[in-house]
Amino acid sequence: MEKEKDVSRRQFLKTAASVGASSLGLGAPAILSAQSSGNSVRYGFIGTGTEGCTLLKFLATLPEGQCIATCDIYPPNLKKGVETIGSNPQTYVEYQKMLDRKDMDAVLIATPLNLHAQMVVDSLNAGKHVFVEKTMYFKEEEGEMIRKATQANPRLVLQVGLQRRSSVLYQVAIEMIRKGALGKVMFVRAQWHRNNNWRRPVPDPKFERLINWRMYKEYSGGLLAELASHQIDVVNWAFDSEPVSVYATGGIDYWKDGRETCDNVEAIYEYPGGRRLVWSSILCNAHLDFSEQIMGDRGTLIISALEKCMFYREDVPKVSTGNGQENWWAGATVTNTAPQQGIPVFPDPVAAGQLGFMDREVTYSKHWLASMGIYNYEEQHNPYWSELRNFLLSVRDAKPVIAPFELGMMDAQGVIYGNRSIDSGQRVYWPGKEPDSKKI
Ligand SMILES: NC(=O)c1ccc[n+]([C@@H]2O[C@H](COP(=O)([O-])OP(=O)(O)OC[C@H]3O[C@@H](n4cnc5c(N)ncnc54)[C@H](O)[C@@H]3O)[C@@H](O)[C@H]2O)c1
Repeated sequence: MEKEKDVSRRQFLKTAASVGASSLGLGAPAILSAQSSGNSVRYGFIGTGTEGCTLLKFLATLPEGQCIATCDIYPPNLKKGVETIGSNPQTYVEYQKMLDRKDMDAVLIATPLNLHAQMVVDSLNAGKHVFVEKTMYFKEEEGEMIRKATQANPRLVLQVGLQRRSSVLYQVAIEMIRKGALGKVMFVRAQWHRNNNWRRPVPDPKFERLINWRMYKEYSGGLLAELASHQIDVVNWAFDSEPVSVYATGGIDYWKDGRETCDNVEAIYEYPGGRRLVWSSILCNAHLDFSEQIMGDRGTLIISALEKCMFYREDVPKVSTGNGQENWWAGATVTNTAPQQGIPVFPDPVAAGQLGFMDREVTYSKHWLASMGIYNYEEQHNPYWSELRNFLLSVRDAKPVIAPFELGMMDAQGVIYGNRSIDSGQRVYWPGKEPDSKKI
């Protein structure tokens, strides 16, 4: 009896916590599945290729979950997955058979993009909580298909693998934008540049399409789906909005090797209020690597390769006072730049005012060492680890989901409309945002 009372009290506290989380606008928390409650979440994993094994490596360190099954149609990857997780999972080739297991709470999916939507829907309808890699879906109509499955299974968690949402560095950067440190932000430039063919070696030509699925339009949304999706999500977050239109171009201009997806893409996403993201991806020069440069009228944030964030103050004269002391040159001779000495932004979740004397000293030393290029910026936890722990805690303890369906959908639409613009050569508007709808 005492035990029962305790359970219902815990349930009440969880329900209360859920209400609090919803009112904060975070992803809808789950009601616990009985077999997870208080225990580790029993999950299966579909698609144990490159990304699958990266996730399994982090999952292996998380006691909040237990991998009881893995599934892959390619035997070498199935074997790699089992070795990576090390928990002796039962293996499957058909994911539907894995979903029949009644002792499984959740499913994680890291298969090629064209398979995501059906696997998500089947998993939800089999009563499993779902984590699915970005991009959440491939074709526009699949968004509604997934939405219906989430609505039919409201107690189940759906999380999308947009791991920047779980990065403390990005969280601090977004907080800086929200608090006005950059002033009015009108422009983001982002790129993901490489100097390689983006192909994987194939042991037998019969596996070409399975292994190099990114090269083929039947399975892949190309550079926008694989790379831009992360950065579109960051900009959606920074602007707290989805775009209203996109104009994109691209082609197969350097790697003419039989691929169908572009080897370079340039896209301009317009957000409400004339704010823009200008994005590029090329596969013939790696100098700029990947970064986001977020520009406001009071400062710029540059977040590079997921691990370093620099802030540059903007204190250039903007309007002539006409007192004759300013150096105004005409046209192209003006070199009116902001100071280039950047200030490092640290992934420290604690506000400076809350630090004790020693912590403050350590923080100052870190900043000084970083400005000399000596200190390495490191998050306390890898964002992959944090997103996976968040997923397991959402399932087990009804914690709010950090990257729920709605964010995944906004992100996927950005990819789909970008590709539509490349294919049609036209600017593509979000529904209801066409110029004649007067809703922009
Ligand atoms: N979040 C990130 O930073 C990140 C990074 C890389 C990849 N990804 C995403 O992860 C997903 C997988 O990418 P990847 O690079 O690991 O691809 P991959 O080709 O290395 O792995 C995909 C795996 O799925 C398996 N598979 C294919 N069809 C299957 C089926 N019907 N049933 C079961 N397994 C099947 C393949 O055999 C392969 O092992 C993609 O959606 C990609 O965009 C995300």
